[in-house]
Amino acid sequence: MKQNIPFAKVFIGENERKYLNEVLESGWLTTAGKALELERRFAEAVGATYACAVNSCTAALHLGIEALGIQPGDKVFVPSMTFTASAEVIRYMQADPIFVDTEYRSNLITPEILEAAIKKHPDVRFIVIVHFGGQAVDLDQILPLCKKHNIRVLEDAAHAFPAKRNGKWVGSQGDVSCFSFYANKTITTGEGGMLVTNDEQLYKRAKVMRLHGINRDVWDRFTAKTPSWEYDVVEAGYKYNMPDINAAIGLGQLEQAELFRKERQRAAEYYTERLSDLNSIDLPLIHVANDEHAWHLYPIILKPSAKVSRNAFIEKMSEAGIGTSVHYKPLHQMTYYKERYHLNSADYPNAEKTWQGNVSLPIFAFMKEEELAYICDTVRAILE
Ligand SMILES: Cc1ncc(COP(=O)(O)O)c(C=O)c1O
Repeated sequence: MKQNIPFAKVFIGENERKYLNEVLESGWLTTAGKALELERRFAEAVGATYACAVNSCTAALHLGIEALGIQPGDKVFVPSMTFTASAEVIRYMQADPIFVDTEYRSNLITPEILEAAIKKHPDVRFIVIVHFGGQAVDLDQILPLCKKHNIRVLEDAAHAFPAKRNGKWVGSQGDVSCFSFYANKTITTGEGGMLVTNDEQLYKRAKVMRLHGINRDVWDRFTAKTPSWEYDVVEAGYKYNMPDINAAIGLGQLEQAELFRKERQRAAEYYTERLSDLNSIDLPLIHVANDEHAWHLYPIILKPSAKVSRNAFIEKMSEAGIGTSVHYKPLHQMTYYKERYHLNSADYPNAEKTWQGNVSLPIFAFMKEEELAYICDTVRAILE
């Protein structure tokens, strides 16, 4: 029987309502105690010293890249196989992305790819690393390479909470890591993000720039003894603070993060077991079998030998009531980047091969066994 299964689903329950009610009853809706509490608990969860709550991961990436001191005309490595936010923040600083390819099936940067990129562009001093789909990049290999070549690292961890590789949490190792709490992520605040770092200077800079370049935040202004009107503007900053309404939802979600992650993993394992014998698709390559995978996405790739095109496959899934998505059309194919930087598809063979057939299957917590079985049966019926 036909089912209706969305691509993503949010779980909001009593826990989130409890924190949200506290905010509504307090009358203080914008950034205050709940945002501070979320920062404290999130930093603890990923093993970082500092956390700065913001209204999106894009805002966190912007603050991070600004705090790293990127200047106009600087060049920054960034994967082509990612969401545009990873690269657009480079343009916010009037710096230029140098797109790199990623490993086929994991969409992660590898030491080999980075080494080749450094050889070709020895003047690059920054990199945006994307922990694609919730699987962590091997930072034990990538960070020493970056250090050797004086490259500072901004981690786009939009997909990667909670995620671990080589026993280390994403967020605990690099210069700056940025997480997303957009509605389809493992935990959500509706819209929201978090910048984490172990570097006090970067943290202080991000915190000032988060709120208009003002040297005191609003909560401090209204709770400290110094009069609230007394503040200085030390930079032309942004308006990126996370309101307590959002932080309250985040606190409720954070307490269930490991449950949500395990639930996603259950779905991913089901797909892998039930679909691995299909010759016409490639399944995600898993490097973190003994660590934690956030399983934000479960992307499959239809091979050229598949009976149907990717678009026809999506259409048929949709007719069967199953939501899917594509992650991603690579950035080297997007008009803005392609035209501005005269990019050539031949330089990104793995991203190209992926883009010919990538489709992400539904993945969210508490997927029912019947739903998973129905999705696998439908995939099989379309492809066989
Ligand atoms: C890889 C990547 N980076 C950054 C972002 C931006 O996140 P946000 O929507 O929280 O700004 C996204 C959004 O999903 C993403 O997929």
